[in-house]
Amino acid sequence: MSRIAYVNGRYTPLAQARVHIEDRGYQFADGVYEVVEVFQGALIDEQRHLDRLARSLRELRIAAPLGDGALRIVLREIIARNKLRDGFVYLQVTRGVARRDHFFPDPPPRPSLVVTARLNDPAKIEAKAAHGIGVTSMPDLRWKRPDIKTINLIANVLAKQAAKEQGSSEAWLIGDDGMITEGGSSNAWIITPDGTLVTHPVNNGILSGVTRATLMTLIGSLGLRVEERRFSLAEAHAAREAFVTSATSLVTPVVSIDGSPVGDGKPGPVASRLRERFHVIAPRTR
Ligand code: PDD
Repeated sequence: MSRIAYVNGRYTPLAQARVHIEDRGYQFADGVYEVVEVFQGALIDEQRHLDRLARSLRELRIAAPLGDGALRIVLREIIARNKLRDGFVYLQVTRGVARRDHFFPDPPPRPSLVVTARLNDPAKIEAKAAHGIGVTSMPDLRWKRPDIKTINLIANVLAKQAAKEQGSSEAWLIGDDGMITEGGSSNAWIITPDGTLVTHPVNNGILSGVTRATLMTLIGSLGLRVEERRFSLAEAHAAREAFVTSATSLVTPVVSIDGSPVGDGKPGPVASRLRERFHVIAPRTR
């Protein structure tokens, strides 16, 4: 089946989908994005993703390319045209096309909007989660506003690639203060020996994960203790469990950090339970 992309008002076979070479996303990474999970044909946490997209656009002073209602229609069209049952939709907005110049183009061009779909194999993803993943610590070399979901991901790309070359699936980024901020494309969590869940607070130092936010509700409903505070690599090494969250990994247990096992080196019971329960409570829209 040929995949269909949405590009600036048109639905096009992916192989023919094009943006201009002077798109500011291409030249300056001047744009933002979202990745939304599609589970059993429904969008997971759509509202939170649209709210975060609106915030990212405001922070970069890019106009919304479409109203939320129209954007919701595009997401549903992309799901339908790609017969997407389980996978993700990717949406990207850039400041638009203009002659290369660092200053904002004046008058502002029409922002570029691209939406694509990616199918995945739920069985494969479940198998990976059942195994757990390894993470490798890397310096956090990103700019100082990783709370904005910009398409400028080169520091994340380099950290994740280096982690992969050391046999891990994710990088855990260490800030200048020696504390873990988050993963290369996920939020980082540990569970302390006394059973408290710990994750970095929401501030300019991390991306405020949608999965993280929804998981907080689940954690509350299960009566688990949680602290939003920074934690060090040493504390992570001493943790009983660790895991990552994102729209693509949901809740995935971390079984090793820099090659040393976390706990007994197997996916922990709390992380596994949170993963099982996640889709039960996460908001779904069709
Ligand atoms: N990444 N932190 C970073 C740096 C991320 O890139 C992501 C998501 C998250 C988790 O956010 P959420 O729960 O809203 O997906 C945290 C997406 C999936 C990506 O870049 O592919």
